[in-house]
Amino acid sequence: MQSRFFTIQNHPQGLPDQNLFNLETAALPELGDGEVRVRNTWLSVDPYMRGRMDGVTTYIEPFTLGSPLEGAAVGEVIASRDSRFAEGDRVRHMGGWRDVAQLVADQVEALPAIDVPEQAYLGVLGMPGMTAWTGLNTIAGMQAGDNVLVSAASGAVGSLVVQLAKAKGVKGGKVVGIAGSQAKLDWLESLGVTAVSYRNKDAQQLSKDLKVACPDGFDVYYENVGGDCLEAALNNLRVGARIAVCGMIARYNDDCPVAGPGNLAMILIRRARMQGFIVFDHWDQYPSFLNEVGPLVARGEIDYRETVEDGLEKTPEAFLKLFEGANQGKMLVRL
Ligand SMILES: NC(=O)c1ccc[n+]([C@@H]2O[C@H](COP(=O)([O-])OP(=O)(O)OC[C@H]3O[C@@H](n4cnc5c(N)ncnc54)[C@H](OP(=O)(O)O)[C@@H]3O)[C@@H](O)[C@H]2O)c1
Repeated sequence: MQSRFFTIQNHPQGLPDQNLFNLETAALPELGDGEVRVRNTWLSVDPYMRGRMDGVTTYIEPFTLGSPLEGAAVGEVIASRDSRFAEGDRVRHMGGWRDVAQLVADQVEALPAIDVPEQAYLGVLGMPGMTAWTGLNTIAGMQAGDNVLVSAASGAVGSLVVQLAKAKGVKGGKVVGIAGSQAKLDWLESLGVTAVSYRNKDAQQLSKDLKVACPDGFDVYYENVGGDCLEAALNNLRVGARIAVCGMIARYNDDCPVAGPGNLAMILIRRARMQGFIVFDHWDQYPSFLNEVGPLVARGEIDYRETVEDGLEKTPEAFLKLFEGANQGKMLVRL
């Protein structure tokens, strides 16, 4: 059996284009003891993959040039030589960016039993959802009544953060989301979130707009973007604010270091705490996340969205679109 997969041959400089990616075909080796073969049905593309293309070890190993790229995927077991999996099982694993994956069974997990479409386990009930829940609760320690600011608020992570914050903010705290298009702002407003655009604004203007949106300032800033969003957020913190640094997508395509915000002293002035986190360090809490958020999703109480590209060939395009803001909710590839 053959597998089609993507590789990169070079480390990109700046924002990559589609020429970076090669679609290759290879015959799979015979299935070994303890291995499973999975026909992928959905692939995840995520901003963190950009960092893995740089050839530098961060909190995760870089992609190997010339080898199949990796990423989260769900699919159906089509052959198994491991007693834990049988043909037809629906599973999740990291053998994405390809149509058929052959994996050691230890690297494959059965999908949880909550009654949701299987691709939800790549988005709202997968790594992005777990990230939203962890950052808001464990890292930022959000309390009822807190005013919460979220950047990239209509994305996979951000759109769950704002909804969890709304649900928890029962004592009248305000939730403000920053996003980049009118459709996204409209969606956020429909969720009861005060939406603020960052497009065509410098940090000073964004600061002013956040002040109008929430004159009392923010107790929590859920950081997905960095750059001007961070600078503007720092100007609008309340005393004792907590910043959960989840991501800084505005910086991922920089090819040299860029000076940080000039107003970091606001952390001192507002006696704020700023903490980065990586969701995989908290993965032992995934069952608690599923227990809490899974039923909300199954009952339709979370408005989660997906932006879907069809066909393996579209995987690089889907990935690159994350940096244009072309997605609402989770960006996915359907095979
Ligand atoms: N710490 C962790 O463990 C962890 C885990 C998962 C994700 N993350 C991080 O969380 C963030 C969101 O990830 P996601 O998967 O949910 O992606 P996403 O928000 O679904 O997609 C990325 C969004 O970022 C915004 N964006 C892109 N380039 C931008 C720029 N230059 N300036 C401002 N906004 C920009 C776009 O929305 P607009 O149209 O609104 O600009 C785009 O839709 C990323 O920074 C990611 O790296 C961290």
